[in-house]
This record gives sequence, C-alpha cells and structure tokens, in this order.
Amino acid sequence: MRHVVGLDIGSSKIACLVGEVDDHGRLRIIGIGVVPSAGIRKGAIVDLEAATRAVEAAVTRAEHTSGLPFHSALVGMAGAHIVSLNSRGTISISRGSHTVQQDDVQRVLEAARAIALPHSHEIVHLIPRGFWLDSENGVRNPVGLHGYRLEVEAHVVAASTTALQTLETCCRGAGVEVQAFVLDPLAAGEAVLTEDEKELGVVLVDVGGGTTDIAIFIEGAAWHTVSLPVGGHHLSHDLAVGLQCPLPVAEELKVRHGCAATSLVTANEPVDVATFGDMPSNAVTRHDIAEILQYRVLDLFDLVRREIKRSGYDGLLPAGVVFCGGSAQLEGLRELAIEYFQLPVRVGQPHTARLSGLIDTLGSPAFAATVGLLRWGAHHHQVREHQNGTGHSSSDWKERLTRWLTTLLPE
Ligand SMILES: Nc1ncnc2c1ncn2[C@@H]1O[C@H](COP(=O)(O)OP(=O)(O)OP(=O)(O)O)[C@@H](O)[C@H]1O
Ligand SMILES: [Mg+2]
Repeated sequence: MRHVVGLDIGSSKIACLVGEVDDHGRLRIIGIGVVPSAGIRKGAIVDLEAATRAVEAAVTRAEHTSGLPFHSALVGMAGAHIVSLNSRGTISISRGSHTVQQDDVQRVLEAARAIALPHSHEIVHLIPRGFWLDSENGVRNPVGLHGYRLEVEAHVVAASTTALQTLETCCRGAGVEVQAFVLDPLAAGEAVLTEDEKELGVVLVDVGGGTTDIAIFIEGAAWHTVSLPVGGHHLSHDLAVGLQCPLPVAEELKVRHGCAATSLVTANEPVDVATFGDMPSNAVTRHDIAEILQYRVLDLFDLVRREIKRSGYDGLLPAGVVFCGGSAQLEGLRELAIEYFQLPVRVGQPHTARLSGLIDTLGSPAFAATVGLLRWGAHHHQVREHQNGTGHSSSDWKERLTRWLTTLLPE
C-alpha cells in the first residue's frame, strides 16, 4: 500500500487529491481539496502570493479529508510556454553478443534528449514511441533482442525553466515539494481514454477555463501535445461583451442556459439578463446566447483542427476526439464537434468505475487531469520511493525525473 498525491493548479480551480494504491495497482481516493483558483491566468502564475494561498487551501483540505499529512505531489502543468517536438536517438550496440541491455535503452533515450530547445526551456517528458533495431521497426521493448544499431523515436515535452521554477516556488510556499511535473493532457489521457482509443489513434482535448490542452495518442503513446491559451473564460467573456453584462452574470448564463449549437436550441423563451449599472435588464433568448457561444466554439475547433493538421496525423485518428475539462460540459459541444470534425466524438469523464473512495464529484470531465495525476502516479510506480518523504530540494527533482523517465518504457 502506498500513497499518491496529485495537484492540479488550473485557471478556474485548484484541486488536490490523495490516493491510496494497493498492491494490485487499484486506486482509492482518500482525500480531496478543491478551491477556486487565484493568481493563475491561461495556465501560468501571474500572482505568486495569491496562487500560493489558494494552493495551500486546497492542500490543507486534502490533508484534512485524508487525515494524511504529505509533503510532495505530482503537479500538473499547462500553458503557452510548453513546447513539444519529436526526436530521434541512435546508438550502436557494440558489445560482443550484440544483445540490447537496459543501459543501452538508457543511452539511446539520452541520445534522443540531445535536441535544440527554445532558449531556457528544459525537458519534462521524454516519451519513447517506438524503437528500431537495425531495420526492424515497431519494437516496443528492445531489451534482450539482438542487433547492431538501436534507434528510438521519442516525443519530447519541454517547458520554460522560469515557469517551472515559479510553479515550484508556489508549491513549496504551500508546503509541498514537486515530486514531478506532468503535462495536463497526458494526465487527463490516463483518466478518460481507453487503451483501445490510444492504440487506434485519438485526440484528447481538455477545454478548461484558461487553456485548451491537446494530446494526440497513436499506438498507445503520445505523439503530439500542445497547450492553447483559449478556454471557457473566453466563452464567458464573449457573452459579457455581447450581452453587455458583468462577467459573473455571463458565467452563470453560460453554465445554466448556454448551448454550443444554435441548431439545437428549441425552447426559445427569453432569459432576463442583469446588465451593468442602472441600465434596464436585457431580455435575450437562448438562441442569442448560443449564437455568441457557437462562434467562439467553432473558433476553438479551428485551432484544434489546425493542430491536428500541423501534427501530420490527421487521417490517423479513427477513435476520433475525446473532450474533457469543465467546458466540455457545455451543452451541444459534442453535437457541434461531430458535425465539424466528421469523426467520432465523446465527452470523457474519469472512469470512476475503477476507482473507489471519495468519488462523488470526481466523475465530472473537469476532474480528468486531476484524477489522471493519481493514475499516473499509480502507474509509474517508481514514484513510490519518493513518496512519504519529508520533501526534496529543488536541485534533485531533475535527477529524480530522469530516473523516473525510465519507468515510461513500455512493459
Ligand atoms: N456546465 C458547464 N457548461 C459550460 N461550461 C462550464 C460548465 N461547467 C463548468 N464550465 C466551465 O469550465 C471551465 C473550468 O474548467 P476546468 O475546471 O477544467 O478548468 P481549470 O482546469 O481550472 O482551467 P485550465 O485547465 O484552463 O487551467 C470554466 O470556464 C467554467 O465556466
Ligand atoms: Mg485544467
């Protein structure tokens, strides 16, 4: 039995979960702390003090509900500073028997790390997509096989060093050391996608408050990831501007009466909207609201489609698009997406069937990345050795991460 802690610092909410993993890898959620976000915009910290207080509040609640004090967590990350690219590494197997050993795999992964990154960025994930051994491709785990030349193709996710440092300072200020950073859509993929979808080819789109995070999975591994600075806040903002009403009013209108597709709006009775100052309240129809929302949602779909095209994997995604994140709950989003992408579309919720404990609120698509962080921790069990510790200095998380990367190898 061991514990995993996931901390998702979003633009709308900060969520901290504590999970217990049994010897069979089953996850039970024993602690939860969710508070409204503060000091975060578009996935990045813009007010350290406010963000630290909010993270501390979420952590304290998770500690109280679980009865388990903890000092470190897996921390989700998103934001425009993240870059992702694909890389290749090649080494020769010169030992007498030409048998690939574990340390050859380590070496070839190291070789794949040698890529040009934007200034002051560092690698957070290096995900092996497949190995080539001499001319044999599609090798999932080369250890024990014979060959002369080992190549790996890997997906590399890098993030701005300063953004990571700020995130780390924020967590430490809240009493939590960063055990490892995990890219939000990779975490979300752990929670909402099936193995079949990942194997066949699928796009995961996590539409949060300030960001839309995308990950494309093919043959079981992530092949393309990106974080776009657009989310549900923009929908509310557009409504506030279009209907000349305060932002909280627009937010409530969106959640209660919003629909992403005008064609689905049938009941068209007017909704009373409180406007600014002394102006008389506006009577608008659900159709008016849907018109504003549809415009922005289609704009978002354009960005997603552009990313799919840019990845070069369009046409390779038979499992279609899976949406998650709080904004995936917008009525009509799925229907509009089916029409737009001409692919299968579903809204993914964390599979709570395989979870137990405090799962009542966690079935919402908004908690995909948070639950995914725990799954990630449960999966990659080398995390164990860093758990239950009393915290770590910032200098050694990179080293821990490097060791941890090796656990990402396919089994
Ligand atoms: N029923 C609903 N219909 C439409 N939008 C909704 C609904 N419920 C929540 N939202 C929107 O979901 C967004 C919050 O989603 P989520 O909790 O996934 O964000 P986050 O993870 O904090 O942010 P991010 O990942 O962008 O940093 C808000 O913009 C909110 O308005
Ligand atoms: Mg999020």
